[in-house]
Amino acid sequence: MWPVAGYGALSLTKKGRTMASPMMYLVPEISCEHCVTAITAEVSQVPNVASVEVNIDAKTVTVEGGESSQIVAAIDEAGYDASRIRSAATAEQQLDDGVVRVTRWTFPPGSETGAHVHQYDYVVVPITNGALTIEADGETTVAPLAIGVSYQRGKGVDHNVANDGDVEVAFVEVELLDR
Ligand code: NI
Repeated sequence: MWPVAGYGALSLTKKGRTMASPMMYLVPEISCEHCVTAITAEVSQVPNVASVEVNIDAKTVTVEGGESSQIVAAIDEAGYDASRIRSAATAEQQLDDGVVRVTRWTFPPGSETGAHVHQYDYVVVPITNGALTIEADGETTVAPLAIGVSYQRGKGVDHNVANDGDVEVAFVEVELLDR
């Protein structure tokens, strides 16, 4: 029966890997093997964590699986401050006719647009449910998104938009270029 058992183990690993891409956390106080052991022990206990990799030189912890808030809490439990390292959200421009510019923004877990200033009035049309973290004027707020529930903002808005959750979030942005 060994081929059956082997196949089962393989598909389980595959399933775990395709659920979400690994998340990286910056832990500035990582300095030695003791830190590696302590952090690995705590993070390994977080439900659904498939792997933990601590890099002493880069001072990073890379984790497959698990919920980000629980992973940060586990690193804290080990005695270290951790912050999530964000990747870049992706922008796919769908239309620009000089009157409107339509862009689909996709935010994988742990991604951000980076700070930007809006040059035009714009409308956001959420195409997923979820929440986004908005960083503006030194303050952080969480904005809920609901599919099809649009909202408008004016030009001059200056912010960073991030997905600090564990599920992908997306919206379509319509910029009004001609007013
Ligand atoms: Ni924006």
